[in-house]
Amino acid sequence: MIISRIIGFESALPPFTVTNDDLAKIVDTSDEWISSRTGIRTRHLTADQNTSDLCIIAAEKLLKKAGWAPESVDLIVLGSVSPDYTTPRTACLVQEALGCKNAFCFDLAAACSGFIYSLSVADKFIKAGGVKRALVLGGETLSKITDWSDRSTCVLFGDGAGGVLMEASEEGGILCEDIHSDGSKGMALTAGYRTNKSPYYKGEPKSSEFIDMNGREVFTFATRKVPESIKTVLEKSGTAMEDIRYIVLHQANTRINDVIARKLKAPAEKFFTNIDRIGNTSGASVPIALAEMNEKGLLKKGDKILISGFGGGLTWATMLIEL
Ligand code: COA
Repeated sequence: MIISRIIGFESALPPFTVTNDDLAKIVDTSDEWISSRTGIRTRHLTADQNTSDLCIIAAEKLLKKAGWAPESVDLIVLGSVSPDYTTPRTACLVQEALGCKNAFCFDLAAACSGFIYSLSVADKFIKAGGVKRALVLGGETLSKITDWSDRSTCVLFGDGAGGVLMEASEEGGILCEDIHSDGSKGMALTAGYRTNKSPYYKGEPKSSEFIDMNGREVFTFATRKVPESIKTVLEKSGTAMEDIRYIVLHQANTRINDVIARKLKAPAEKFFTNIDRIGNTSGASVPIALAEMNEKGLLKKGDKILISGFGGGLTWATMLIEL
C-alpha cells in the first residue's frame, strides 16, 4: 500500500516583530487585554515581503536539506488566503523561483485549515499513483487583509510560511484524517468580499477587503468541533491518546486550545504552542509550529502526532501522522 511519508519541516518568518505595546500605540488596546484573552505577546509582520517570498524561503530550505532536485517535485500545493495575485497563484510563483518545472501547482483556500486540507489533497494524488514527490506549503501575509483600525482583529494575526515535503512510501506518513466544512456558519469569519464592477452589473457595488470576525462564534465553533474531530481520528485509527506524542493545533488563541485540551482530557505537555511569539498565521500556523518543533529536536522517527486546523469557511481538519 502506498503511504504519503512526510520528510522535512521548514518555515520562514519575516524578521520584523511587533509587540502588544507597539499595537497599543495604533489602536485602543493593551498588552494585558491581548495576552490575557489570546496568549499572544508578539508577532512577525512583513515589512517588504509578500506571501510568495516567505513560501519560497521555506521551500528552498526544504529542498536543500532533503537534497531533492527541483525537477523531481511532481506537485506543489499551497494553502493560503492571502496570495500575492489572484493569478498566477502563489504555488506557481514558488515553482518558478525554485525551478520545479515538472510540478503542477495550485493554491488551496481553506483559511486556517488550508495547510491540512493541502496535505490531504497531496496525499490523495500520491496514493492515486500519479505523484511521487510533493511540496506542501502554508503561507500567509494576513497583515495585508487586516483592518489596522479594528482592535478586535488586528491584534490577533501574524505573517509567515511553512511547509513539508511528501513522498510515496510504504511506511509511516499520513495514517488517518477527518475533514469538514460548514458553509452555513461562513459569515462568522469573512475577508475579501467583492461584487462585480462591470457596466452591466445591476446590483449594489460593494467590497470589503479586510478580515471581519465574530470572535465569540468562532470560539464556540472551534472548542466544539476540534475535540470531536480529534476523537474521531483516534477512534477511526484505533489509536489511544497515550500513543500520541504531540498534538499541534492551529495557533489561534491560547484560550481556545486550553478548552480543547480540557475536553480531550489530554495533558498540557502533549500540546506544542508558539502563539505567544507568532500570533495567528492562519494556514501557516501548523507548519510553522512543526518546523520549530523539528528545530528543537522534538520530532522523532516513529512518533505519532495529531495536527488540527480550524477557521474560515467554516472549515476544520485533523490528521494523524507517523513520523
Ligand atoms: N483591546 C481592548 N479591548 C478590546 C479589544 C482589544 N484588542 N478587542 C475587543 N475589545 C473589547 C470590545 O470592544 C468589547 O468592548 P465592549 O464590551 O465595551 O463592547 C470587549 O473587549 C469584549 O469584546 P469581545 O469581542 O466580546 O471579546 P471576547 O472576550 O470575545 O474576546 C476574542 C475576543 C477575539 C479574543 C475572542 O472572541 C476569541 O478568541 N475568539 C476566537 C477568535 C479566533 O481565534 N479567531 C481565529 C480563528 S481561525
